[in-house]
Amino acid sequence: MLPDLRRLAGFLLPVALLLAACGGASTPGVVEVTLPVSVLGAEAEVLRRQLRRFMEEHPDIRVVQRETPDAADQRHQLYVQWLNAGASDPDILQLDVVWTPEFAAAGWILPLERFAPDTSAFFPTTVSANRWGDSLFALPWFVDVGMLYWRTDLMAAPPTTFDGLVSSARAAKQRHGLRHGLVWQGARYEGLVTTFLEYLGGHGGRIMEQGRVVVASAAGRQALREMRSEIHESGIVPTAALTWHEEETRFAFQNGESAFMRNWPYAYGLMQDSAQSRVAGRFAVAPMPATPDGTPTAALGGAQLAINRNTEHPEAAWRVIDYLTRPEQMLERARVVGQFPTRAALYDDPELAAALSIPPAQARRVIEHAVARPVTPIYTQLSDILQVHLHRALTRQREPAAALAQAQAEMQQLLNRVGLGIGGPPARR
Ligand code: GLC
Repeated sequence: MLPDLRRLAGFLLPVALLLAACGGASTPGVVEVTLPVSVLGAEAEVLRRQLRRFMEEHPDIRVVQRETPDAADQRHQLYVQWLNAGASDPDILQLDVVWTPEFAAAGWILPLERFAPDTSAFFPTTVSANRWGDSLFALPWFVDVGMLYWRTDLMAAPPTTFDGLVSSARAAKQRHGLRHGLVWQGARYEGLVTTFLEYLGGHGGRIMEQGRVVVASAAGRQALREMRSEIHESGIVPTAALTWHEEETRFAFQNGESAFMRNWPYAYGLMQDSAQSRVAGRFAVAPMPATPDGTPTAALGGAQLAINRNTEHPEAAWRVIDYLTRPEQMLERARVVGQFPTRAALYDDPELAAALSIPPAQARRVIEHAVARPVTPIYTQLSDILQVHLHRALTRQREPAAALAQAQAEMQQLLNRVGLGIGGPPARR
C-alpha cells in the first residue's frame, strides 16, 4: 500500500519469527494461535478488541496477531513464502477472495467440513468464491465492492456516465483549484485489475467467459482507452496514480485534493474521522459510471478466513474464525470500519443502516451484482499477465488494442497449458 511496504514486509517477517520464538512462552493448558492482521489503525483496533473478548470467553486459547502489509500482492507474496516453506505459523490466514482456489489447490489450507460450518446465512457469491472441488476452504469475513467516492460540497449529484465523470472532474478541478479530478489505483498490482474490471463492465465487457479469455474485445479496448485518456488527455487522473495503491488514493482524497476517488468501503469510515480527514461529512459514495452498452460495475473483493493446513491447532483456529464471523462482530466491524458484512440477513438489521456508507438495501443489491474475478487456481498468474499489459498501455508504452491482444493471448496460452482453458485459441507454437 505504501511504497516502502516491501521493505516493511522484509522487516516484519524476521520480527514475526523472533516474536514467535521468544513470545511463545506457553502457559500450560493454553493453546496459542496466530493471525496476520491489518496495519490500518481502525481495522487493527476493532480486531484487537474482538480478539480480547474472544480470549476472555476462551481462556484456553491465546490469539497472537502478526501485522502484515494490507496491499494485496505484498500479503500474497508473504503467504506464499510462509506456506511454501511448510510453516505452521500463522495458523489462521486472512485471504483475498481471489486466492482461495489457489491455496486450496496447492494444499495449503484445510477443508472446513469437519467443523460443520453453517454457510446458509452468507451471500451465496461469497461462499462459492471459497469453494474448491467439493469443499469449502474459507469463511467469508467481509465483502468489498468498488465504489465511486464523490464530494458532496462540490457538486449536486455524482455522474453516471464516463463522459459525465470527466466533465464533472474537470469542472471541479478548475473551479475549486483541486490538484486532481479523479484518483484510482493504477500501480501494477491487483488493485489495477479491479479498477480496470469496473471500467470494463461499465463498457459491457468481461475478462473471461467459460474458460475463454475475452478481455481484448471492443469493450475492453474502450475501457482501457478511457482510463488512459483520463491520465494523458483530459488529465483528470494524475500520472502519479500509476504508482498508487488504495492508501495513496485515500490520502489524496481525504486531503481534499481530488473531486472523485475509486475505492473500497474501508475508506469511508477512516475519512469520516475529522482528526485525519479534511473531507469528513463532505463526501458520499455512488456506483461507478457506465456507458449505455454496459452496467455500473463493482468488482467483488473482500477477505476470508482460512486455516493453515500445517497448523498444530486446527480446532482452536476454527473457534477464532467462527467467533470473528458471527453477526455481532460483523456489525461492530461495519460500525467502526464501514466494511460490509458477508451475512445477508444483517442487511435487514436496523443497526447496519447507521453503520454503512449507503442504505443496506442498496449495499445488498451492489453485492449481489458485484462482478467476480476469474475463479481459478492460477488466478494470480493470469492477473500478473494482465497487470503488465494494462500498465504498459496506461504508461503509453503500448497501444491499448495491442496490449490487450497480447494479454489475452498469453492468458489463454497459460490456461490451455495447464488444461484449464476451454475452447480457447490453440496455443501458439
Ligand atoms: C481489496 C479487496 C481485494 C482486492 C484488493 C486489490 O483488498 O478486498 O479483493 O484484490 O483490494 O487491491
